[in-house]
Amino acid sequence: MEFASGYLGMTTTVVFLLLLPCVMSMPREFDFFFFVQQWPGSYCDTRRGCCYPRTGKPAADFSIHGLWPNYDDGSYPSDCNRHSHFNISEISDLRDEMEKEWPSLSCPSSDDTNFWSHEWEKHGTCSMLDQHQYFQAALNLKTQLNLLHILQSAGIHPDDGLYSLESIRNAVEEAAGFTPGIECNADESRQRQLYQIFVCVDTTATTLIECPVLPRGRCPHLIEFPAF
Ligand SMILES: *[C@@H]1O[C@H](CO)[C@@H](O)[C@H](O)[C@H]1NC(C)=O
Repeated sequence: MEFASGYLGMTTTVVFLLLLPCVMSMPREFDFFFFVQQWPGSYCDTRRGCCYPRTGKPAADFSIHGLWPNYDDGSYPSDCNRHSHFNISEISDLRDEMEKEWPSLSCPSSDDTNFWSHEWEKHGTCSMLDQHQYFQAALNLKTQLNLLHILQSAGIHPDDGLYSLESIRNAVEEAAGFTPGIECNADESRQRQLYQIFVCVDTTATTLIECPVLPRGRCPHLIEFPAF
């Protein structure tokens, strides 16, 4: 009997382990996307610093961090298809725009394709879109939501000045029609600064919506908008 139940347990475990990859690679539905843009000045002036990609110093503009499927409860799916690898050939027509709008700033290699590959495999595989649709959707959203233009029109400039969190939030809210999430980080002297802006998009990745949840932003009332 000891042997039989042990054997049965092991068989169950083996079957479970064999089925697990299939279950995990099946995309589940999600509720909305976070579309996240980052300010390069705030990525680069931290203690960790940044490295420029092959194409050189990016423009002084917000750039795409990612388009992330999310659940209404704040959790999110990731790595939904371990068999779907990033393939640069599928987005060759988007590459120039990607290098401009979605540059990597990470050190030491700052390899754009590594960054895009990570974003595709962790988040894009959960989007229900193919690679071309996914990256194209993010580029379209970047065009649709020109954050630097929106902020500058409201008198908020990347000039190392301090701005109220409220003024930044209001400027984006008036232009986008929905309340954004604002995330801060700290520069080398621990000054809190404008790092990322989150907006929410419906599951077709085209239409802005009110955010069901927002990330904790870690911003005080006054934050710096550093030059880049
Ligand atoms: C990458 O995509 C191209 C164009 O769609 C295709 O011809 C090629 O087979 C793909 N490569 C891999 C490794 O899947």
